[in-house]
Amino acid sequence: MGSGELIDKINKLKKEKNAVILVHNYQRPEIYEVGDFMGDSLELSRKAVNTDAKIIVFCGVDFMAESAKILNPDKTVLIPDKIASCPMANMVTPEQVLEAKKKHPDAIVVTYINTTADVKAVSDICCTSANAVKVVGSLKEKEIIFTPDKNLAAYVQSQLPDKKIIPVEGYCYVHDKILAEDVKKTKELHPEAKVMVHPECRMDVIKEADAVCSTSQMIKYAKESSAKEFISVTECGMVNALKKEIPGKEFWAVGGTCIQMKKITLEKVYDCLLNESNPVEVEPEISEKAKKALDEMLRVS
Ligand code: 13P
Ligand code: SF4
Repeated sequence: MGSGELIDKINKLKKEKNAVILVHNYQRPEIYEVGDFMGDSLELSRKAVNTDAKIIVFCGVDFMAESAKILNPDKTVLIPDKIASCPMANMVTPEQVLEAKKKHPDAIVVTYINTTADVKAVSDICCTSANAVKVVGSLKEKEIIFTPDKNLAAYVQSQLPDKKIIPVEGYCYVHDKILAEDVKKTKELHPEAKVMVHPECRMDVIKEADAVCSTSQMIKYAKESSAKEFISVTECGMVNALKKEIPGKEFWAVGGTCIQMKKITLEKVYDCLLNESNPVEVEPEISEKAKKALDEMLRVS
């Protein structure tokens, strides 16, 4: 079956089944064509809360689909490929967080949404790349245990010098590999371009930025800016989302591929919706605790 035919079939099937398809910005461009909403982790969490659909098909990685399920325990949430698992989300365990809490009893635990449900369950509040500074800034506590992204932790610390950020470390293999040198070279090639950097990058890369942005904040920034060219420093598929949303401007990518995000294909979306396969399940006790941390994030940001 060709991709045009598959896109038509998926779009028809989702209406018949009262399903909504949520699509992360890093997905393959053909997946955008079946999405009801495209966005970053924060926007897609909000969409998951507000939808009336019976079924949510999440085209993204596992922690995103899991968060949608936690926020909507009564809905069916499907992920087209269970192998689509974010490596950073598997770098920290609840035991490590509890150990840090023991060492720092006055600290509050802020957990990046890129984590498993059981880590969220031992956390006080979640955050995403779009709201990490706002979430941490909203807390009265001075000491913050922040997990798992060490680069995002360093960025938040740089923005909030009065806080003491205690990282429990992990990192994103895509963003951590990006070098300041690569950004500088691309700037030399495109001197008029504005530089947008995702905060999962290292601090020396972030220093090259005109704007530090979540994926959807990049779209907003590029739309509102008077500049005509932009360098997007993040997973390389982001330029597809930027080009789709802003066809009149030029975008250059610095960053590699997240292979887990690209596991989702049109064939898998169709099969998953047709057979209602790969439902996301979270143990009720864990889910309830994790939901508190996610709800708290949505409340303050
Ligand atoms: P955003 O929330 O900015 O889309 O980031 C998600 C992610 O996994 C980045 O690597
Ligand atoms: Fe995880 Fe990095 Fe892929 Fe985002 S880009 S899903 S943080 S591995």
